[in-house]
Amino acid sequence: MIRKVKGTRDILPPESRLWQAVEAEAVRTFGAFGYDEIRLPLLEPTELFVRGVGEGTDIVGKEMYTFTDRKGRSLTLRPEGTAGVARAYIENGLGQRPHPLRLFYAGPMFRYEKMQRGRYRQFSQIGIELLGAATPEADVEVLLALHTYLGRLGFDDLVILLNDLGDPEDRAPYVARLKEELGPHREALCADCRRRWDENPLRILDCKVERCREIVSGTTPIAETVSAEARAHVDRVRELLETLGVAVRPAPRLVRGLDYYMRTVFEVVSPALGEHAVICGGGRYDRLIADLGGPAVPGVGFAIGEDRLVDVLPEAYCRRVLEVPFVAVVPVGAAAAAAQALAQRLREAGVRTEVEVSGRSLRAGLKWAAKTGARVAVIVGEDEAARGEAVVRDMAAGEQRTVTVDALVEAVEPLLEADGGADDGH
Ligand code: HAM
Repeated sequence: MIRKVKGTRDILPPESRLWQAVEAEAVRTFGAFGYDEIRLPLLEPTELFVRGVGEGTDIVGKEMYTFTDRKGRSLTLRPEGTAGVARAYIENGLGQRPHPLRLFYAGPMFRYEKMQRGRYRQFSQIGIELLGAATPEADVEVLLALHTYLGRLGFDDLVILLNDLGDPEDRAPYVARLKEELGPHREALCADCRRRWDENPLRILDCKVERCREIVSGTTPIAETVSAEARAHVDRVRELLETLGVAVRPAPRLVRGLDYYMRTVFEVVSPALGEHAVICGGGRYDRLIADLGGPAVPGVGFAIGEDRLVDVLPEAYCRRVLEVPFVAVVPVGAAAAAAQALAQRLREAGVRTEVEVSGRSLRAGLKWAAKTGARVAVIVGEDEAARGEAVVRDMAAGEQRTVTVDALVEAVEPLLEADGGADDGH
């Protein structure tokens, strides 16, 4: 047997319906905010991520799927979407379009990570990017879109954590200060953090190891050291969010794992999965496009981890999506065409309808209908077909009656709704 590659997943039905549903809701919600989809390649030049995400990050340092193609070019399966959006902005001259630009994307990303629950090597993200606005109001819009989306999926326990990373100029003095404060404890840090000391010292701040967290809790939060301008920016973001009723929790040690961030950074965590389970990460990146050789265009956005999102979806939402009532049409004798014609009427009325196409007898056909979970069976034989009729059977009640083909939809719909859950407005 050939098995799937480690860290990849098969998303099977009916779970795939949940994926379709959250993606459709993303198109709807972010569309209502004016975001249009951008579809980008999965393959990019390796240099894009080295320069965009940053050489010292875990992603670039040890998690990229990088290979040399047949012409000797170094290519990488994208580990995230923002760098690709920035490249596409520059390459397609999107700077010519009215600003700000609102972009949405969804699709697979690749990182060579250690497998565990909620962590895969191929995973999917749903993200938005707002390009060309440097104001706090832009950050607020992005966070409001996120809050609205999660609300529409029925979440009420997710927490948005927010921090201020200051401007890039604030970074070096802070890192120096941090190292000074951590210096006496350097040997007590975990092996990963001792490695981070030179490669990416800021990441020591959000190490999940208890001992490191204790040590770090004694250091000065980065937000206390940033420029007055950066602080005013993030204060304004907080103020506006409060007015809008979007709850955020200050997270003074939140630093994010990608180098392009500045000022506002945030994550969404799920208490259901534990504090380490980050559903979404994002923030402001005003230098990224310029760093990649483009114009000085600011940006802010986020990406939701779709695998994790689906994993913690509220139960009521899942039920609504998964329990779609449907009809099974069972032809008896030479009634295959009549069965499909009846099914078409139901399908056109928006009713999910499966036809028995395996040549089962009436008895076996009804058994099949029960097993697949059909709420209603429609039985049609040659005689009924000739008279323009069909038999409608309520599977739960075991009751049936004959109706004319014209009255079929009318007869079936109330039975589908009877159990509840049928009409959810979706
Ligand atoms: P990120 O924090 O690296 O940010 O990833 C965003 C989300 O993707 C994470 O919060 C998590 O839910 C999900 N994720 C990341 N790695 C994995 C994995 N191995 N398995 C499953 N899920 C995973 C970014 O990628 C930024 N580009 C976000 C952004 C957009 N910032 C501004 N705009």
